[in-house]
Amino acid sequence: MRPCVLRNGLLCAALAVSVAVSAQDTPYPIFTADHLDATMKTLGPNVAGLQAALREGDYSTAKERAIRSREQLAVTVTFWRDHERDDAVQLIRDVLAQLDALDGLLSAPEVDAAGVEPLLTDIQRGCQGCHAVYREQDAATGDYRLNQSAL
Ligand code: HEC
Repeated sequence: MRPCVLRNGLLCAALAVSVAVSAQDTPYPIFTADHLDATMKTLGPNVAGLQAALREGDYSTAKERAIRSREQLAVTVTFWRDHERDDAVQLIRDVLAQLDALDGLLSAPEVDAAGVEPLLTDIQRGCQGCHAVYREQDAATGDYRLNQSAL
């Protein structure tokens, strides 16, 4: 950096600080509301596919869908951490734990079909728990979006 030649010492210091901050850049990529939207749009069909596969008793497809859903939901935690929404982070942790438990059941040689149903209910409850607070629907288009006012 060039030596500070401004006579106003305060301004000089402020400039130095802002340069230092911008040079530092963000330590990790920002997960934006658009990323959240895109991720939810792929998570939805994956969970629907998971339910369909379970109904058909196709456990290997169900397992793939559960793993994929887990991956997709897991990355969204960054968004809620950035916005310091501990309740949302906890909801995600709960759903991830339930998806893990489901993966465990579906990995057994003999799948415990009776154990699957309550897990699925809990997973959906977790999705809805967050949607009820942080998601809103556009009355005109029916599109979903982030409820900014809840952040
Ligand atoms: C911690 C909060 C949170 C959790 C947990 C969560 N979602 Fe979402 N979801 C959102 C928010 C916020 C939106 C609105 C964002 C948007 O669509 O722009 C959303 C939107 C959606 C949409 C609509 C996408 C669109 O725009 O058409 C679907 C489908 C969806 N989520 C599925 C799920 C499923 C399935 C689960 C559970 C496995 C889940 N979500 C869990 C917060 C969450």
